Order: sequence, then C-alpha cells, then structure tokens
Amino acid sequence: MRIGFVTSSDYPTLSASDRLLAKELSISGVDVVPVIWTDASLPDDLDLLVFRSCWDYSEKYDEFLCFLDKLGDQRVPVANSPTLVRWNSRKSYLIELADAGVRTVPSAPISSPEEVSIAIATLGEGSLVIKPQVGASGRGVQRLSSEDVLEVVKQEAARRSNPQGWLLQKFMSEIRQGEYSLVFIAGEFSHAVLKTPQPSEFRINTRYRGNVAPVSPATELVEQAQIMLHCLNETPLYARVDGVLVEGDFCLCELELIEPSLYFTVVSEAVGFAAAAIRQAAVTLERGWNG
Ligand SMILES: Nc1ncnc2c1ncn2[C@@H]1O[C@H](COP(=O)(O)OP(=O)(O)O)[C@@H](O)[C@H]1O
Ligand SMILES: [Mg+2]
Repeated sequence: MRIGFVTSSDYPTLSASDRLLAKELSISGVDVVPVIWTDASLPDDLDLLVFRSCWDYSEKYDEFLCFLDKLGDQRVPVANSPTLVRWNSRKSYLIELADAGVRTVPSAPISSPEEVSIAIATLGEGSLVIKPQVGASGRGVQRLSSEDVLEVVKQEAARRSNPQGWLLQKFMSEIRQGEYSLVFIAGEFSHAVLKTPQPSEFRINTRYRGNVAPVSPATELVEQAQIMLHCLNETPLYARVDGVLVEGDFCLCELELIEPSLYFTVVSEAVGFAAAAIRQAAVTLERGWNG
C-alpha cells in the first residue's frame, strides 16, 4: 500500500512529527511518499492522499484552490476531503460555526475599510486581534486597539496583501493560560497538548516560540470539543480543535482540518492510533469519492 503525504517544497522530507507517523505506517507495510503539492503531477499509484505539511497554501491561495479542484477530479481518495479543506481554508468558517451554536472567539469579517465600523460595533471596543481570512502559522496576526483598526485595514488594503479580507476578533486574555489543541482521529479523541506563549507574546506559533506540552484535558472539555465536530457534514480523518478556556468552558479558536501539526514528537504514544486510522481510510474510502 502507498499513501501520499501532501507537503510543500520547504518540507520535502515531511515534518518531524509526520516522519514518526510515516515510520509507524511503514511497520504495517505502508509506504509513505511525500507529494509536493506545487509539483506538476501526482504519483499515479497511490491508495490515499493525506494533507500534511502544505503550510504555504495560504501564500499561494489561488494555486491551492486549483490544486483542490484537480484533486476532486482524481481517482485517488483524499483526506481530509477537498470539500472540507476548501471550507476550512477561510477563517470565516468560525462565524458559520458560531451561528450554528458553537462557542467561538467572537469574530467579525472585514473585506474593506468601509466594513470596519460595523465589525467594531459587533465586537465592542477595546483590545482586538486582526488576522488574514486566509492565513497560517501566525502570519499577519496582530493585536491592536479598536481605534487603530481602520488605519491598519486601510494600509493593508492599499498593499493588497490580503485579497480575501480579514477577520477581526476580540482579544482573548485567556490565551495567557494557554491554547489547548485536541486531536481527533476519525472522530475519536486521540491526544492533546497545551501551548503557552512567551511572556511578552500572545501568539503561540512556532515562529513565536510558543511552548508545547502534553496535557490530559477533562472529559467535559473533550466532549465540548467533540460536539463541535458534529457540525460538519462528514467525519474528518483528522481534526485539531484549538481553543481557550473561558470560565472553564472550551471556546473555539480554530478548527484545523487542513494541515495541522498533530504533535507526535510531543505525544509519541498517539502515533499508533493515527497510523491505524489512516491505513483503514486507505482501505475503506472509495476511489473517486472526492468528486
Ligand atoms: N482572538 C485572539 N485572542 C488571543 N490570542 C489570539 C487570538 N487570535 C489569535 N491569537 C493568538 O495568535 C495565534 C495565531 O492565530 P491563529 O488564529 O491561530 O492563526 P494561524 O492560523 O495563523 O495560526 C494563536 O495561536 C493565538 O496564540
Ligand atoms: Mg493557529
């Protein structure tokens, strides 16, 4: 059996976490092949393609959408499905989930300077965060005061740096206690980490040297995160549910369905469950289901 891991040209040998996953798969006879998504063609003998370290997708977004279209026409099954990946690639999905009753970080979309005042009216004044609607790895995520939003949006609009617009959010001071990442494999809870920012930072991404440690979340937190997955039309092969605790309840920051790190370097004992689920998906997902 051969499974492709979709990666970027910056990670031709995959991430350290995914190398552990590939090694585990190889023990059960599965050959994992890195597939650089910007390359012209796909290997044609794959049993499954799994999105993994294509972390540059948001910087080449139009190309990435074409890649998703191309996958939809291929016979090889893809996980997570191109439909789910496309939906998850714009952070405005958070507003859809909030409308469906999911507890999320209060968020409002902005597509032009004219929309700033309505977004601020929705969220209230004070400390806010602005981020590109299509973004990853903490790129362009800024904390700012409500008074400064208009100027920032005007400047960014003039640079045309984020053609898909921005998401404005309330600044969640709970981030100081850390962001939980709960990993679900085929709908089942697998493992979790708690990521905490550096003392003078609020972003926990690798480039901001956030600390990552294994954690055993309370059963209620796992249940609260799992219920959020029930809002999706399909059960993702993998999902990372990122959130902060607000008065003890899980509040969704991001639902990561494209290429989240699954932290096998931090929680190495979880790798067996994920490898078994991926192998199973390669057997059960029907060829041509992407269309
Ligand atoms: N509304 C917010 N309140 C507090 N911290 C935030 C907020 N939004 C983002 N952050 C911090 O910035 C980091 C990156 O933002 P995130 O929305 O996860 O974007 P990305 O997809 O680029 O990782 C988060 O992990 C968190 O540490
Ligand atoms: Mg994030």
